[in-house]
Amino acid sequence: MLKGKKILLGITGSIAAYKAILVIRGLVKKGADVKVIMTPSAKDFVSPLTISTLSKNEVLIDIFKEDSWANHVMLGRWADIMLIAPVSCNTIAKMANGLCDNLLLSVYLSATCPVMIAPAMDEDMWLHPATQKNISLLGSYGNIVLPVEKGELASGLVGPGRMAEPDTIITYLEDYFKDRQVLAGKKVLVTAGPTYEHIDPVRFIGNHSSGKMGVAIANDLAGRGAEVTLVLGPGNISFNFNSGVKVVRVNSAREMYDACVNSFEDVNFAVMSAAVADYTPVTVANEKIKKKDENLLLELKKTKDILKSLGEKKREDQVLVGFALETNNEEANARQKMQQKNADMIVLNSLRDKDAGFSKDTNKVTIYFKNGEEKKFDVKSKEAVAKDIVDCIIQYHHA
Ligand code: CTP
Repeated sequence: MLKGKKILLGITGSIAAYKAILVIRGLVKKGADVKVIMTPSAKDFVSPLTISTLSKNEVLIDIFKEDSWANHVMLGRWADIMLIAPVSCNTIAKMANGLCDNLLLSVYLSATCPVMIAPAMDEDMWLHPATQKNISLLGSYGNIVLPVEKGELASGLVGPGRMAEPDTIITYLEDYFKDRQVLAGKKVLVTAGPTYEHIDPVRFIGNHSSGKMGVAIANDLAGRGAEVTLVLGPGNISFNFNSGVKVVRVNSAREMYDACVNSFEDVNFAVMSAAVADYTPVTVANEKIKKKDENLLLELKKTKDILKSLGEKKREDQVLVGFALETNNEEANARQKMQQKNADMIVLNSLRDKDAGFSKDTNKVTIYFKNGEEKKFDVKSKEAVAKDIVDCIIQYHHA
């Protein structure tokens, strides 16, 4: 699993830095290509000579060295993953706040590869609210934070804060790369964002959906090897898309319907997270509607229900996931939608939850399954919610 993988290991100033030696040895033994960056203070804990000998590569510490410059951008692009082990409390705080006063931090900030960190510090530092806040910020940036272990600490105290053991870190890396391939060969259709239904050349009927949830789902699926077609409604947010995501931009419910119906036959899973308009104007005025009478009546007609249409075409081997955004009778409405639209799963978010819904960066969902089961989740970043949803799809598909 690790053979040929390019791993960029960051080592910071911590007593646990000696364990990084065992991480390097384990990775090299498994055939990984390891390059190491140390912070200047890490040199006080382990010798760069030992590290370069074991990793078989020159150790990078300085941004500038005489007449040369370490290309921090290319390092983050070279790597399949950046692992920082151990990561100290100080470096965690700098990463969380975007500080950039050494090579390791400049590589971290410019890295396009995923980042995994193994924190190491004393119990009280680990439990301090500032550290916990920084750790959750790093999680919200998509960094993978490995759990600390409980045990004897450098201070002599016993508690949480020890860096995960080298073998455990290597297992996490192996699982990570295994997970990246779990959906290889699978095709998925995802809808996201709002739709705009034109009234005249300058006005439309829309909604507050940002598309963030659907984009996070598409990125997570692609991150696990799936080939994703994301049918994305209009909006001004600029998203980062994983390389496995093909984006089809649409405006109206009709355009979204056409894009979905065209690709549904070829996909294994479809996730309909878009907030599609239920009604659209019967006619669209060719010219701007002028202000005249006190009241203006717009005649609307129903749009096609994309999820329902796909539910009618769904084969046994396909998994169809819908969303339900509710303000009341949440569970009953969600289950009814699942049944009426022939979906296998429905992801419910309630507008009564203050951390859920449009434009927010967090969400709180309950997932209902066709067989009557349900899974409730806490408030999480939309990226973490996307991971939960994709985990459920994979479990359902294998069941
Ligand atoms: N949906 C769809 N096409 C539509 C309307 C909704 O595909 N024209 C999908 C949404 O993407 C979502 C699910 O149906 O997956 C439920 O959407 P929601 O807006 O919660 O419910 P509606 O079916 O529109 O019903 P209502 O507005 O009455 O709650």
